[in-house]
Amino acid sequence: MKSNILVVLASPRKKGNSAALAAKVVKGAEAVGAVSETVYLNSLGIKPCQGCEKCQKPSANGCIIDDKMQSLYPKLAKADAIILASPIYWFNFSAQAKIFIDRLYAVGCGEKNIFKGKNMAVILTFADPDPFVSGAVNALRSFQDTCRYLQANLEGMVYGCADKAGEIKENKDVMEQGFLLGKHLAALTKN
Ligand SMILES: Cc1cc2nc3c(=O)[nH]c(=O)nc-3n(C[C@H](O)[C@H](O)[C@H](O)COP(=O)(O)O)c2cc1C
Repeated sequence: MKSNILVVLASPRKKGNSAALAAKVVKGAEAVGAVSETVYLNSLGIKPCQGCEKCQKPSANGCIIDDKMQSLYPKLAKADAIILASPIYWFNFSAQAKIFIDRLYAVGCGEKNIFKGKNMAVILTFADPDPFVSGAVNALRSFQDTCRYLQANLEGMVYGCADKAGEIKENKDVMEQGFLLGKHLAALTKN
């Protein structure tokens, strides 16, 4: 069985830095036989969680919001590893990433938790060279807490400073870290 990796892109820039780094992770994973799918949140127009709590009723079958997040739930359930790739906007994840994370509430709590034991990783790009000043540390900490709550394994974090779209490709060290993360994630579930 090949390892199945789902990449969730949370930048509006399809050819931006976080997408370029995510593509390198995919290359690493595919180099050792994994299969992958990449989804681009910005085009899905996912609505924010409405806090209705209907998803938490014992009889509930997921989130009641009828939008394109519904097509992501089965992909998330099937994936061996999930990678969230986001730019830092205003010292935290992009709005697209945050809306996506909020919508995991329907499938991430108690008996309904589909993430238990799943491998996760996060990719972040930001303009300020200092990860503290940029706000990247806030996003990393938030993702750590999210994984802990979901009982998922946080298997890697790759992050780097870049501003102009695609500029991250010039940072060979970070790109190599991305490649190695992909290999690592694929190896975790390879049979
Ligand atoms: C609305 C907006 C807010 C931003 N806020 C921050 C920030 O708080 N800290 C930072 O270091 N960079 C910030 N940036 C810069 C981006 O994080 C940086 O350009 C990043 O590489 C973009 O990644 P992408 O190409 O994947 O979209 C911001 C950019 C935009 C457009």
